[in-house]
Order: sequence, then C-alpha cells, then structure tokens
Amino acid sequence: MGNKIEEVRRMFLEFFSKKKHKIIEGSSLIPNNDKSLLFTNAGMNQFKEYFLGYKKPFYPRITTIQKCIRVGGKHNDLENVGFTNRHHTFFEMLGNFSFGDYFKKEAIFYAWELLTDSKWFGLEKKKIYITVYYTDIETYNIWYKNIGIPKKNILLVKDKDNILYNSDNFWQMSETGPCGPSTEIFYDLGCNLKGDIKNDIGNRFIEIWNIVFIQFNKNLNGELIPLPIKSVDTGMGLERISSILEGLDSNYKLYFFQKIIKNINNYIKTKNLGHNSLKVIADHIRSSIYLISEGILPSNEKRGYILRRIIRRAINHGRILGRKKPFFYKLVTKYIKYVNKKERIFLYKKIDNIIHIIKTEEENFNKIINSGILLLEKEIKKSNKNYLSGKQIFYLYDTFGLSPDLIQNICIDKKINLDKKEFTKYMEIQRQQSRKNNSFKKKINLYYKNKISKFDGYKNFISYSKILDIYINEILIDKINFGDIGEIILDITPFYGESGGQIGDIGYLEKDKKNIFQVYNTKIQGNLIIHKGKMILGSLKKDDYLYSKINKLNRMMISRNHSATHLLHSVLRKKFGTHVEQKGSLINDQYLRFDFSYNNPLELQDIFNIEKEINNYIFKNIPIQIYIKKKKEIQNNNIIALFNDKYDNTIRIVDIKNVSKEFCCGTHVLNTQEIGFFVIIKFSNIANGIKRIHAITHNLALEYIQKQNKNIKFISKIFRTDEENLIKNILLDKKKINILKFDIKELEEYIVLKEEKILAENNIILNDINLLISKVYSLNPKIFSFFIKKILKKFKKTIIFLSTKWKKKIFFIIKITKNISKKINAIEIIQKNLDKKVCKLNGCANIAQGSIYLNKDEYYFFLSKIRLFILNKINKLI
Ligand code: ALA
Repeated sequence: MGNKIEEVRRMFLEFFSKKKHKIIEGSSLIPNNDKSLLFTNAGMNQFKEYFLGYKKPFYPRITTIQKCIRVGGKHNDLENVGFTNRHHTFFEMLGNFSFGDYFKKEAIFYAWELLTDSKWFGLEKKKIYITVYYTDIETYNIWYKNIGIPKKNILLVKDKDNILYNSDNFWQMSETGPCGPSTEIFYDLGCNLKGDIKNDIGNRFIEIWNIVFIQFNKNLNGELIPLPIKSVDTGMGLERISSILEGLDSNYKLYFFQKIIKNINNYIKTKNLGHNSLKVIADHIRSSIYLISEGILPSNEKRGYILRRIIRRAINHGRILGRKKPFFYKLVTKYIKYVNKKERIFLYKKIDNIIHIIKTEEENFNKIINSGILLLEKEIKKSNKNYLSGKQIFYLYDTFGLSPDLIQNICIDKKINLDKKEFTKYMEIQRQQSRKNNSFKKKINLYYKNKISKFDGYKNFISYSKILDIYINEILIDKINFGDIGEIILDITPFYGESGGQIGDIGYLEKDKKNIFQVYNTKIQGNLIIHKGKMILGSLKKDDYLYSKINKLNRMMISRNHSATHLLHSVLRKKFGTHVEQKGSLINDQYLRFDFSYNNPLELQDIFNIEKEINNYIFKNIPIQIYIKKKKEIQNNNIIALFNDKYDNTIRIVDIKNVSKEFCCGTHVLNTQEIGFFVIIKFSNIANGIKRIHAITHNLALEYIQKQNKNIKFISKIFRTDEENLIKNILLDKKKINILKFDIKELEEYIVLKEEKILAENNIILNDINLLISKVYSLNPKIFSFFIKKILKKFKKTIIFLSTKWKKKIFFIIKITKNISKKINAIEIIQKNLDKKVCKLNGCANIAQGSIYLNKDEYYFFLSKIRLFILNKINKLI
C-alpha cells in the first residue's frame, strides 16, 4: 500500500499508545460466538462483552485496527459501493476504546489533538465540522466551550421519522447489543465545492470519525437497558482519513486502489479509469479475498450468500464494461502484492485456495449469465413493442443474477424500453419477504452481575462448589424444587461448558443424598458456566454448598475424541498440505465430526491411510502435554490457531509431541494410547471444497468393527460361503439374478400373448355388446394393468371384467364403455357383489378396479356372482 496508509496506521496506534491504550490485534471478520452479526462491522465487536459488563477487561483502554465488512445486517453499504468515492464493502477501522474509564471529554480531546496537532495529522481546524445527537448538550458544550468550535460548525442531529434514537448520531452495533449517542467529525473538502454541512454530507463534507458514548444495551423488545459502566467506542475509516491526508478527493485514488484499477484495465480495456464499475470491481476483489481467506465459501446461505453476491456483482460490472470472459480471479495475485508485508504473508498462504474458489464461482456464474442473456435476447425479440416489463426484468435478475444495470445496457444497445417502476415494485416485495425471513428470535441474555465461575475440571472430576445463582425460565430465583427444570451457576465447577466444538459435560450436583440436581448439559455465557438440568431429588437454594460431579466415563470418551480430533487434523495437513483448514468440528461422547477444506476427491484408500497413521500414533503412546503461554511469546510459532480473535493475554497449548500443537481450551487424555483405537465411519462432501469425516474411538470403535464383522459373517451364511469368497459369490448371484429377471420378463410376455388369445376366443356378443368376463393367469399387478390396457384397446362397445390372483390377493378391473355406462354402472357392479370393508376399491361409472384377499372358493363364488349379475343387467336391457 501507499506509504501514507502505513504512516497513518503507525501514527494512530502510537498516539493512543502514548495515551495509555493497549494495542490489541483486530479480530477475525467472522464474529466469534455472536449470532447477532454476520460479519465484524466495527472495531468494538470483539469487546461487546466488556461494553455490556459481562466480562471485566484486562485493560480499561484499548486501541485497534480492525478489518470490517459492511454488507448485510444493520450496516450495509453494498449498493453505495462504486457510486460514491468513500464507501467500501471491506475497509479497515481505526479505533480507541474505553471500558468504564475515560468518557466524553477525554475522547473528544484525544480526537481533536490527533486530527489537528501539527505533530500528528495536522488538519486545518477551521475545516472541521461536528454533528451531535440533539439531546446530548454535554457533548455540544465540550466542542463549543472547551474545544472552541464555532456554533455554526456544530450541527445537532435529530431522530428520523420521530422515532426515538433512530438517528445518524445514535450508533448501535446491530439490532440488539451495545449502543449510545455519538458525535461525528466531518472534514470540509471545500475548495470549489458549494453547499453547507446540512445538505452536503458525503460530498463536500466527509465523515471521518465517529465517537460513540456507549451507555445502553438494546434488547429484543427494543428497550434500552442502562449499562453499569459508561464507555467510549470510536471508529475512523483508514482509507478515508488516508485519502484526506493525501489531499485526494476519492479513496479510489489511493495508491493501492489505483494499482488495482490499472490491473483490472488490463482485462477490461476502458478509457475512463474513473468509471464506477472499475471502483466496484476494485472494492469487491478486496472483500472477496478477505472473506475467502477467513474460510467463507460462496453459497446460497448467510455469509456464503453475501460472498456470492459480492463476486457476482463484480462480474456483472465487468460485463457492463464489456468483459465476457473470466477475469476477476486473475486480480487476486496483484492485489496481494500491494498489501503490507504482514497481510501479504497471511494471504500468500491461502492464495491458491482463494484463486480456485473465485475462479470456480466466476466460471459457474458466467454460464448462468450466458443462459440469462440468451433468454433476455429471446424476450427482446418476442416483445415487438420494444418493451420489457418489470416482471421480465425481475425474472432475469432473480433467476439468472443479471444485474438491472447490465440488462439496461443490453436494452439500450437494442433500443428497448424497460419498465423500471414495475421492477422496483417487485424488488420491494422481495426485500420485504427476505426481511421477514431474516428476523431472528434470540433468547434474552441471563442477568449478569460481574460474576465469574471458575472451571476446575481439567484434572478434577469433582469439586466442592457454592451456588451463585439459580434460574428457571431465565428468571432469577432463590430456590429450585423437586421436578423443576432450571439453570444453576456455581463459583467453581468441573463441568466443561460447551465450546470450541466440544459438548458440555453431564453429571450431578449433590448437596447430600437427598438433594440432587441432574445436569444434562453445560453451556458458557460470558464468564459464567451454566449447568442445565432438573432437580431429581429434594431442593437446592442459592448459597448452598454441594459436590459437583461430572460423569467420568462420558468425559473420558469426550476427551478421547478431542485428542483424536487433533491427531486427525494434523494427519490431514501432513497428508494433503497445510492449506487444509478446519471448517468446523463437533466432539461428543459418541463420535467426532471434523469438517475441512480440501478440493480433491477423498478416496477410500486415503481414509485407510489416515486411519492407519492415526492408530500408529495411538499405539506409540505419545504424551499429550498442556501448557499456558503468553500470547506474545508464541507468535511466529508453528501452531495451528483456529480462533485468533479471542482477546486474552494467555493461550493454552495442547502439544502432542512432534505430531500436533494447537491452541485449545478443550479437555484431553494424558497420552495417545488412552484413545485406544480410531476408526473412520463416514466421509462425505458437504459443500464445494469442504469434506466431512465422522470417526469413533476406543471401545465404540471396537464395537463398530465387531458389528461389521458380525454382519459379514451373517451375510456369508446367507450366501453359503466363507468370508474370503463372499464378494465373488455376491457378484455371481447378482449375475444370476439379472439373467432370471430377463427370463421372467420373457415368460410374462409369453403369458400375456397367450391370455390375450384365449380371451379373444372367450368373447361373447350379447345384445350387440361385447362381453368379456374372465380370470387370467396369475400375473403380477404391474403386468396385469399393462395387459388390461392392451385388451381394452381392442373392443368398442364392451363390458369387460378381468381378474388375476397374485400372492393370495385378487386384483380385478371392470370397464364399461361410455355409451352403455349410463345404464350399467361399473362401481355398482363391484359394490353389490363384494363386501366393501375388505376390498380396496376405486373408480366410477365406467371403470372400477380393486384388490381383495379371497380363498379359492370365495374367488370362484365372486366370479360367478359377477357373471350372473352382468348377464342379468344385459338381459334387462333387451
Ligand atoms: N462503532 C462505531 C462505528 O462503527 C464507532 O461507527
């Protein structure tokens, strides 16, 4: 990147470091354990629990540079990108945070000093404008009285649509969570631009810094609950401030963006290097690269869907500029060249995967677009009025992903008018629909009071604990009685709370033999470990002391599966390369499930090799050591880090000597031999480039093998052979069956032919009506109905009754041609001659069919009755 950006980064961190802020790494783009967000959208996300007071921060002042994605969710800039000079789907945010430490005055003074002091950014003071939430007079006065900003340069911003806190100066992370009034700092690009701060925000006046005074937690009902501490959260777009400091009127004129745009133009030859579509593509290649680097794959759901939309939007813009062949994936290598060294090293490790994923998506989408364009051209040809309706445009957009701009471009060329108004209507309907689908319900968080439960279960299976809180239906209560289902929080516990893929422990909380709570799951919330379960004997009260005992056997199985997961992860990377990444994992007492990225097919032989290698490690009895290290001590070490966004000073390392080293908080066995035995029971493809393995360990693995063995022995018995010759015999039998099937078919055809002939001879004509009442040779129902169809074709004015016996069941059909069915009713004939209850029957006046169980005599009797009945009916017609 250009030097200015690097200098801005450095100066920002240095400034706040001098103001006693701890510099912390930005978190992952995928929020850890936060269902209210799709992507990290601000620097404060990783500190949510500190703002809410759920956790006590190690440092009261922190500063970070955070990668953000603002697509989808509350903060969504996608549609603006490319059409303004400042919006991005991916950007970096500079931020300083105070958790119950300094508040409004210091936050504003720090921002002012950094922006205007000539030692730092040195911006012209008189070009700075401020917005303040209209009721926040304290903040207004700090700017006006303490800093000295003229009144005319401070704007009080009200709520929109008269809805309380619905304001640009009231910031909230998402639909729920930390929030508060904010003050924003704008910079006046001035020069030749006319206008004032009220009307020209975003054009002449550029927002550079948002300072939020976090004071509330917004819950699902939209209520603002005051927080125990008052905090500061700030955010300044790195790209924006850098371009202002360089005197550029657009972020896209920054050095690295210009390099990307030139690179794009190698594939798309346009003379206008300021074209909006180039900006869109330049922005979208960044977000695509970073999203994929964090393990997101294009798909039709959630995060994957956003990535797909971004890639497709870029490709659509390529088309607008006339590029039909894939090009987007080719931008990856060059982009990575222009990022700073640290990023470059990070991205280079993943480059092959990133290129592969974008290329596949691009090729697939190009195919879809091509079919869409063919259809569009057909529609255009069809519409002799030179007009495409909103519905037609929406169909092309919704089904083929053709962007309205692309459709418009093609239509302009062909002089076709579009009904954009109607199209907007369809889009609005879709938007409302997806809004409805997206509204999610979340349980309201438990009430925290800065309490902490200590986990004591790495080595112990029993602890002596005190009850801190009891909840039933999320309501805090003092006592839990026999039969109640609830949640208990202890000061210290050996129960592992579900996290990092490992399920929670089960067991008992026993005060004495008469008061017992059965724990059937354990979860984590903030600093608390929550035991979920049922009072199965007596009762328990807050402050009671008790023995908390986990189910040891269950835990042992979980620990075996967890250690085996580490072995599996390591063997996969050893075998397939270090680009193999964990994509998800589940560890319980029954099995382990492991998802990982791998683009090639997984063969059975691969599975056998993996099993073999893991069992070799198990047999070697390798010690599993666990130690805690300071985060800074282990940087650059070759350790697999899965969740790099945990803000903690220390890291727990699980070290299987010379085989695997992972950051992990889970429980493990002491040495590999305790795993006993490892068997993969299933492997599958769960998404493009993602494989899933299910495996089991120890006695479950042995039982599985024994069961398989038993099945083989049983099958061998059925095939009357020994195990060695089993497959050979099965194949041989299969061959025989195929020959037999063929013989049966031929035989059936022969019977049908023969029966046909007999029936034709049996046909009598009575009163000008063909009468055919007969039973036919035993035919299976499928052949019987085929046979009937054939017969029916042959006769015109007819009454036909045919039946056949197949596996003790009689199948029959009666058909009466339409011209006589007014006088003789098919279904009536059957109903009058059969007991309805035991017969499956359906039909109408001219056709009825059914089946019934009859013995030989009953069958004979039934046929005679039918025959007599029909003859009587015909006689009456004479
Ligand atoms: N969290 C605030 C924002 O993103 C600072 O604007």
